[in-house]
Amino acid sequence: MKILTVVGARPQFVKAAVLSRIIANRAGVDEVLVHTGQHYDANMSDIFFEEMEIPKPKYNLDVNSLGHGAMTGRMLEKIEEVLNIEKPDVLLVYGDTNSTLAGALAAKKMHIPVAHVEAGLRSFNMQMPEEINRILTDRISDFLFCPTQAAIDNLKAEGFDNFDGQYFLSGDVMQDAAMFYKNKAHTACESVQNLGDEPFVLCTIHRQENTDHPERLSSIINALNTINESTKVVMTVHPRTKKIIENSGLNIQFTCIDPVGYLDMILLLQKCQLVMTDSGGLQKEAYFFHKPCITLRDQTEWVELVENGYNRVVGVDSNKIQEAYAYFTSTKLNFEKELYGGGQAGVNIINTLIAAIAK
Ligand code: UD1
Repeated sequence: MKILTVVGARPQFVKAAVLSRIIANRAGVDEVLVHTGQHYDANMSDIFFEEMEIPKPKYNLDVNSLGHGAMTGRMLEKIEEVLNIEKPDVLLVYGDTNSTLAGALAAKKMHIPVAHVEAGLRSFNMQMPEEINRILTDRISDFLFCPTQAAIDNLKAEGFDNFDGQYFLSGDVMQDAAMFYKNKAHTACESVQNLGDEPFVLCTIHRQENTDHPERLSSIINALNTINESTKVVMTVHPRTKKIIENSGLNIQFTCIDPVGYLDMILLLQKCQLVMTDSGGLQKEAYFFHKPCITLRDQTEWVELVENGYNRVVGVDSNKIQEAYAYFTSTKLNFEKELYGGGQAGVNIINTLIAAIAK
């Protein structure tokens, strides 16, 4: 059996690390890894392959730094060429990026079954490129692996019981990754070592809905500057955000460091007091490491974090961000609840997929 996996952006490397390790240990199952090239900086891509021991991609399509149409279109064309050469039994994609959609679309038109990991998530905000990518990918997928019951409920509400795709509740592979890699020996990079032992707030911003709207970005930065007066704020700065901040003249008073690899991110998550982010993955990683999270967006796909009081979705209003910060710093949370499958998602997914393809 041959599985062809398409990855391209940072969060997909983390998820692929989990499944690639399981596939490598299955007799009779081969994986061909394709990297679209969407993320290409050493600290956005190579470092994940090295420290998470992800197999080297057989193909790197080198498609990046383009608008949505050109990026998705060129990926589609190149993935189709690879599929013609490799003729896999199934194509595996993760999440909601342009790489996800391009992979799923290329395979589906060639009648190759598509497996989608992280299916069924919805923000209900069709302004987000990720929402469009995930809805289209789900609709053309044959095997939909849902991390949560909320994701299953979304698919049901959209009528997926009437479609051909089969959906499964699998748990979240990001929890498997967190549990596996937190035990891996690792020396922190210089910028993480330099932070010392002072308590800090860990922050990331990269969503187009924040970076590409100057008033939203400046409102977030104002809140972070204010919080930084009492508690150190540390932002790992995504290349998209870096370019925009450099060109905007915004006054940043908190600590900025370059993007870090997965193992350093785990260290930061363990050491920080609280997380503030517009990332999807980091909201859950905060919970895995028992840290509260303030989500700098108007919606979240990870509704169970909010329902259980671990996460507050506050948008970008400077006062609301500070209020949420004050709330979490004065409230003790109990993180005992198991929301994402307890680290068994990868095995669930591969067992189900192999059985389904073998049928
Ligand atoms: C993409 C995904 C987003 C995901 C995020 C994780 C889409 C539509 N968006 O957003 O869902 O949460 O990845 O990080 O697929 N850049 C670099 N070096 C890199 C990578 C990017 O300089 O290694 C630059 C690009 O040239 C571009 C900008 O950063 O100017 C944005 O990159 P892009 O891949 O378009 O989207 P992300 O914002 O990373």
